[in-house]
Amino acid sequence: MTVKEILDTMDYGPAPESAAEALTWLVDQGDRFGHFIDGAFTAPGPGFDSRNPATGEVLATLTQASGEEVNAAVAAARRAQHKWERLGGPGRARYLYAIARLLQKHARLFAVLETLDNGKPIRESRDIDIPLAQRHFYYHAGMAQLMEAELPDRQAIGVCGQIIPWNFPLLMLAWKVAPALAMGNTVVLKPAEYTTLTALLFSDICRQAGLPKGVVNIVTGDGAVGEMIVGHPDIDKIAFTGSTEVGRKIRAATAGSGKALTLELGGKSPYIVFDDADLDSAVEGLVDAIWFNQGQVCCAGSRLLVHEPVAERFHDKLRERMDKLRLGDPLDKCIDVGAVVDPVQLKTISDMVAGNTAGQTYHADVALPEGGCFYPPTLITGLAPSDRLMQEEIFGPVLVSTTFRTPGEAVQLANNTRYGLAATVWTENLNLALDIAPMLAAGVVWVNATNLFDAAAGFGGVRESGFGREGGWEGLSAYTRPKARTKALSPVPPMPEGGGAPADPLDRTAKLYIGGKQARPDGGYSRPVWSKSGALLGHVPIAGRKDVRNAVEAAQAAAGWAGTSGHLRAQILYYLAENLSARAGEFAHRIDAMTGRRGGEKEVQASIQRLFTAAAWADKYDGQVHGVPIRGVALAMKEPVGIIGALCADEAPLLGLVGVLAPAIAMGNRVVLAASDPFPLAATDFYQVLDTSDVPAGVVNILTGPHADLAAPLAAHLGVDAVWSFSSSDLSGAIERASAGNLKRTWVNHGQATDWQAADLRRFLEAATEVKNIWVPYGE
Ligand code: NAI
Repeated sequence: MTVKEILDTMDYGPAPESAAEALTWLVDQGDRFGHFIDGAFTAPGPGFDSRNPATGEVLATLTQASGEEVNAAVAAARRAQHKWERLGGPGRARYLYAIARLLQKHARLFAVLETLDNGKPIRESRDIDIPLAQRHFYYHAGMAQLMEAELPDRQAIGVCGQIIPWNFPLLMLAWKVAPALAMGNTVVLKPAEYTTLTALLFSDICRQAGLPKGVVNIVTGDGAVGEMIVGHPDIDKIAFTGSTEVGRKIRAATAGSGKALTLELGGKSPYIVFDDADLDSAVEGLVDAIWFNQGQVCCAGSRLLVHEPVAERFHDKLRERMDKLRLGDPLDKCIDVGAVVDPVQLKTISDMVAGNTAGQTYHADVALPEGGCFYPPTLITGLAPSDRLMQEEIFGPVLVSTTFRTPGEAVQLANNTRYGLAATVWTENLNLALDIAPMLAAGVVWVNATNLFDAAAGFGGVRESGFGREGGWEGLSAYTRPKARTKALSPVPPMPEGGGAPADPLDRTAKLYIGGKQARPDGGYSRPVWSKSGALLGHVPIAGRKDVRNAVEAAQAAAGWAGTSGHLRAQILYYLAENLSARAGEFAHRIDAMTGRRGGEKEVQASIQRLFTAAAWADKYDGQVHGVPIRGVALAMKEPVGIIGALCADEAPLLGLVGVLAPAIAMGNRVVLAASDPFPLAATDFYQVLDTSDVPAGVVNILTGPHADLAAPLAAHLGVDAVWSFSSSDLSGAIERASAGNLKRTWVNHGQATDWQAADLRRFLEAATEVKNIWVPYGE
C-alpha cells in the first residue's frame, strides 16, 4: 500500500513486526529441538513439525518424548527437589526474580516467537501474554520471600507434573511454574504440541538465570506424553489446563494414586448486557471477550445475554463493529484478529458452525487471507438456551446470543450451563451488578470490563470448569501441603455380635435424618450395634442409593442457607453447642458404650469446642480486596461450595461428625453425612440436638450404613458439589474415580488419620469455600 493510497482510504497501513530475531533464534538452535532435562537440552529424536498457523510454514521440528525421556525428566526433578526446597524462600525468590528480569529483557523475542507459533496478534502477545508472564514471576518471587513467615505450616508438595494448552503458551507456563517453584517444588512441564517454542526458549532463560539443574524440566510431545506424566508413579501433583474431556480422563487416571490435582478446564461464560449499560463500551468489551485470541480463551465471553429492550440496537452496533475488525497477518501491529492455532481447530470451529441450523448466523464482512487458519468473527443470534451452540464450547471467534427480560432470568440463563469459569456484567447500576455477581456460578466476574487478569487475583472455576485456583494467596494451596506428619489409619471394625440382652427393653431402631425429619431407609434394612461387653445398644438403618438421592434432594431444597448471614449461622452453631452441652453426659456414655473406651467425655467437650470455634469463624472467615493493577479492585469473596457429602471418621463417632458439620454449615454449605460406620449411634442421637437448635430442614442430613456402599453414590451424584472422606476404610480411589462425572471437588484421606482433637479448623473452612473474584473498575 502506498502512502497516497493510505491517505485516500484513511485505512491503516501495514505495520509488521520483524520476525528476524525469532527466526534467527530458531536457526541458531538448529531448527530441531530435544527436551530440556536436568539443565540441558537432549539430542533431538523422532517427532513432529511445529507450524506457523498464519502461513502453514514449518518453524521447527520437535521431539515426541519417549517413556525413558519422561522418566529421566521426573528423576531429574526428584533429585533436585529436596535441595531446592531447602534453599529456603528468600533463596528461591532470587531465581524467580532473575527469571522475571530475563523475561522482561527478552520480551520482544518471546512476543514474536509466540505470535509465529500460535497465530495470535502481536499486539496481544506483546501487551498481554508476555507482560502477564513476567508479572507472575515477580509476584511469586514475593511469595517465595514471604513463604516461611506467612505460611509456616505449609511445605512443598514435591515433584509437579504440569500439562498446559496452546492458547496462552508462555502465560500458562508462567501460571504453573512460578507458584510451584516459589513454594519449593520442582516441575516436569509439557507444553501443547501446537505451541512448544516459547517453552523451549523459557528453558534457555532458566539456564541463563543459573537455575539449579533439574528444577525445571520441559518435555515435548502430544497427549500420549501427557498421559505418561499423569501416570508416572514418582510425581506428587498434576496441574492441568485444557479441555474438560481430558480433565475428566486425568481425574479418573489419578484416582486413588494420592497425587494432588488441580484442573482448569473449559467454559461457556455468559456476557450479560443490561438495558442501562453503556452499549458502545459493552460492544468494545465484546471485542475483548470473544475476538481476543480468536476466541480461544477458556473464559471467553462466548454467550451473549442481552436485555430484550436493547437487543436489536445492540446487535446492530455489534455487527457494525465486527465489520471493522482487522483480520490478517498476526505480526502486523494493526491486526485485531489473527489465525486459529491449527487446521484441526479450524475444522472443529467450521464444522460446529456449519452444523448449526438454529438462529441467524452473521459472519463479519472481512476478507480472509489465503493459506492460513483464518475464521471470520461470527455472531449467531436468536438461539434458544438448549441449542447445542449455547451449551458447547466452540473455542473460536464465534459469539452466540439470546435475550432476557428480567435480572432474575439473566441469572437463570447465565447459570444454565455445566461450566462455571467466568461471567461479565454490563450495567451502569452498580447495585444491580453487585447484587447479581454473587448469584452467578463462576470463579471470576467482571463488572463493566472483561478478560482482566492479574497474578494477585486467583483464577479458576466451579462446576465442570475444574477446581483449584491459580494466582493470589489461594493459588498457593495448590502447591503446598501441611507440614504436620500423619499416621496411617487402620480400618475400625464394629464390635462383634454380643448376643446379650438389649440395654433398654424398648425398641431402639434409629432412623435416617433427611430434610429435618427422621426417615426409614428405602431398603427397610437395619443392623444391630453392640457394646464391647456384648449388650445390644440399638439398631441403625442401612442406607442405600435411594436414600442418598433423597438426602441430596432435601439439601437442594435448603438452598436458602447459602444466603443467610454469618451472624445467623453463628447463632445456630452456638445453639447446637448449648444443646449438646445440656446432654453431654448422655453422649459421653453412649460413645464409651459403643467404642469400649473411656474417651467419651473428652470427645463431647471437643465437639462443643468445635461448634464454638466454627461459630466464631462463621462471620469472620472473610474475603479480601486485591490491589490489582487497574483503576479498580478485585473483591475476593468466599462462597460456600454448595452441597458437601462426607464420610465421617469411624474412630470419633461424635467429633468426626461435628468436626465436619460445623465448619461446613458455618460457611453456608448443606451437608449429607454418612455417620461413623462401626459406631453410628452418637450421630443418630444428634438428630434431637439438631431438631432443637433451629437448624433449617435439609441443611444437615445424616445417613447410616456401610461407607463402602455410600461412597460411590455420593461421589457420583451430580447434585453433590464436593465429597470428603475421613473413613477408616480407605475409599479415596473409589470416590475420586466416581467424582469425575461432574468433576466435583474431593478431599480424601488416602488412608491417613486425622487428629480430631487437634485438627486445624481453617483447613476445613478452606475446603468448604470457593473464592470468587469480582473485578470492579472505577471511573466513568
Ligand atoms: P486438550 O485438552 O487435548 O490439550 C491440552 C493439553 O493436554 C495438551 O498439552 C495436550 O497434549 C494434553 N493432553 C491431551 N490428551 C491428554 C491426556 N489424555 N492426558 C494428558 N494430557 C493430555 O485440548 P485440545 O485437543 O488441544 O483442544 C480441544 C478443545 O479443548 C478446544 O477446542 C477447547 O474447547 C478445549 N481447550 C480448552 C482450553 C482451556 O484453556 N480451558 C485450552 C485448550 C483447549
